[in-house]
This record gives sequence, structure tokens and C-alpha cells, in this order.
Amino acid sequence: MEKINLGVLVSGGGSNLQSIIDSIESGRLDAVIRVVISNVPDVRALERAKNHHIPAVVIDPENFRTREEFDREIVDVLKNHCVDLVIMAGFMRILTPVLLKAFPMKIMNIHPALLPSFQGLHVQQRAFDYGVKFSGCTVHFADEGVDTGPIIIQAVVPIYDDDTADTLQKRILKEEHRIYPQAIQFYAEGRLEIDGRKVHIKNYCTMETPCMHNPPLEKF
Ligand code: GRF
Repeated sequence: MEKINLGVLVSGGGSNLQSIIDSIESGRLDAVIRVVISNVPDVRALERAKNHHIPAVVIDPENFRTREEFDREIVDVLKNHCVDLVIMAGFMRILTPVLLKAFPMKIMNIHPALLPSFQGLHVQQRAFDYGVKFSGCTVHFADEGVDTGPIIIQAVVPIYDDDTADTLQKRILKEEHRIYPQAIQFYAEGRLEIDGRKVHIKNYCTMETPCMHNPPLEKF
């Protein structure tokens, strides 16, 4: 199978980047990371790229007059590296139409909550404070909104009584590392069909997922 060319956008630790690298290296993900772009210098994600001999570039927003000019530079770097699919992996910037139009429905993002609940920032803390019994994570295509694009895959993560926002964040992150490579592999296999807000996955196993309850039901 032909491999797709990825460009990964990062701003921080890069654990999602690492899970994508590991999935590629273990042969489960048919992709090649052509370039990693960070908007922040000296972050761990850049080190991870270097450790795996992946070209990595810092594009500092300070050097651009407008958000559009910054995005134009990102587009140029992605195009120069023949990127097919753009992966936002902890990339803490809102995209302008310059980037969205250059890669229409070819930009994925991961969000550490069950969208459309808890869009925006500090969402693990907010889910924890709200008292929801389940949160989770979502991979979706990026559009002009913040965390609003068509949803590809979600994982549900329970919240227990003895959790803290920190333990919840760790449990969610573990699932992020599973669903992001899976979403990219669906794309690589040409199995994602976008129909308005809905993303259909061709030929997927429709085995019924049982409903979950938290706390567990006792008599019902
Ligand atoms: C993840 O929780 C991701 O969902 C969010 O930022 C965090 C980045 O983690 N957008 P990492 O940089 O991939 O470790």
C-alpha cells in the first residue's frame, strides 16, 4: 500500500507525535512523517523528531505580522515537503483560512474531551470540575471553528470518585495515543467519507459496542 505523507504540527511535549512515530515504526500505520513544525522553540516534540531523524522546523509567530502570514509560511513548508495530510498534535494555535483552504478536509486535530462537550482550553480540569462521569477524546477534521469540525473517532473515558484532574488527564492521553494513529490509518486506507458533519468509515466492523455505565448499574 502506498504510504501517505504527514506533516505534524506541535507546540509542546509531543506524546501524540511519539505515538504516531511508534505506530509507523511498528508497521501498523502506513504513513511517513515528512516534517514536524513547531510554533515554540526547544519543545520536547522537536527532540522526539530529531531522535527519529524526522526533519523538524520552528516557525516562530513573533516573526510574522499577521496570523495569515504565519499560516502562509506553514503552508509553504508543508507543500515543500509534499505533505498530503496535516496532523495537529497538541498544536496550540487557531488556524486561519490560509491553512484551511490549502488543505481542505486534510487537517486533523485531537481534543482531550468528548466533543462537542468541553471545547477550548483546560478541558480535563473543566470536565472534572463539572462532575461528568465520562469524558474522553476526539479526533476530528479541522474547520474554521474551534474544535468544531466533523468527528472521525472518539474514545470514552470514565471518571472515578478518587480521580484528580491530573489522573483523568493521564487516562485520556493514553486513549489519545490509540485513536489518533487509528484515525490516520483510516485516512491512509481511503476509508473516510465526509458527508456534511458526518464522517463515515467504509467497511468497518459494526460489532455493537455495549453501553457503559459509571457507576455500574446494580439492580437494573
Ligand atoms: C493533548 O492532550 C492534546 O489532546 C491536546 O494537547 C495535548 C498535547 O499533548 N490538544 P502532546 O503534546 O501530544 O503530549
